[in-house]
Amino acid sequence: MSERLRLGVNIDHVATIRNARGVNYPDPMRAAIIALEAGADGVTAHLREDRRHISDDDIARLSTMLRERGQPLNLEMAVTSEMLAIALQHRPHAVCLVPERREERTTEGGLDVAGGHNWIAPFVEKLRDAGARVSLFIGADPLQIEAASRTGAQVVELHTGAFCDAAREGSAEAPELLKALQAGARQAASLGLEVHAGHGIDYKTVAPIAAMPEVRELNIGHFLVGEAIFVGLAAAVAEMRQRMDEARAK
Ligand code: PXP
Repeated sequence: MSERLRLGVNIDHVATIRNARGVNYPDPMRAAIIALEAGADGVTAHLREDRRHISDDDIARLSTMLRERGQPLNLEMAVTSEMLAIALQHRPHAVCLVPERREERTTEGGLDVAGGHNWIAPFVEKLRDAGARVSLFIGADPLQIEAASRTGAQVVELHTGAFCDAAREGSAEAPELLKALQAGARQAASLGLEVHAGHGIDYKTVAPIAAMPEVRELNIGHFLVGEAIFVGLAAAVAEMRQRMDEARAK
C-alpha cells in the first residue's frame, strides 16, 4: 500500500476574485482555513511578480496563521532576488520555484533547470539553508529531472497541465503524456527526489495522477476555486480528497 497522498490547495484565485473589486472580500485566509478543515494537508500560494492575485500582505498573514496552526505553507515563486528576500523573511515550510512570464495567463511550462543550473542552484541553497523544503516545477523531461537532482532541491513538482488538457479533450496524445509523467516520477524517485504533481488537475484527471505510487503531493487550485462557486469550497476539497484516496487505494 503506498503512502497517503497529500493535497495542497492553491488559493490564488480566491485573491483573483477579491482583486477584481479592489476590496478585502473574499479573503484567501478564510479559504485556507476551510480547505484545511475539509481535508487539505497544506496551502499553496503563488506570489507573482505583478501581484495579480496573492499580495505580499496575504503571504505575511498566511505564513503567520499556518505557523501558529502547525500546517504547511508552500510558497510558489519565480527565481528572482526580490522573491528570495520575501521567502527568507517569512520562512515558509516549502518553496516551489516556478518559471514566470508577465504575459502568461498561468504557469505555462516548467523551469529550464538544465539550462539554468548556475542561476537556480544558489537559490536552492539559500532557501534550504533557511529551512525550506525546495521544489522545482518542471516538465516530465529526463534531462530536466536529472538537472533538478543536481541543484540540491529535495522535491520536483511535475507539470501535469499538458496531460490534463489532453485528457479532458479526449486527445490521442493523453496516454503518451501520462506515460511520460509516470516515467518522470519513477526517474525522479530513483534519484532520491520527492515527487509532487500539479497544474490543471480536476475530478476527471486526478485519478491516474494520484495512482502514481511515487507521487507524494498534489497541488490543485483553479478547478477547486471554480467548483467552490457551485458546491462550496469544503465540499469541493472533500470530493477531491476522496477521489485521490480512492485512486491511491486501487
Ligand atoms: N503547481 C504549480 C507549481 C503552479 O504554478 C500551479 C498554478 O499556480 C498549480 C500547481 C495549480 O494549478 P491549477 O490552478 O491549474 O490547479
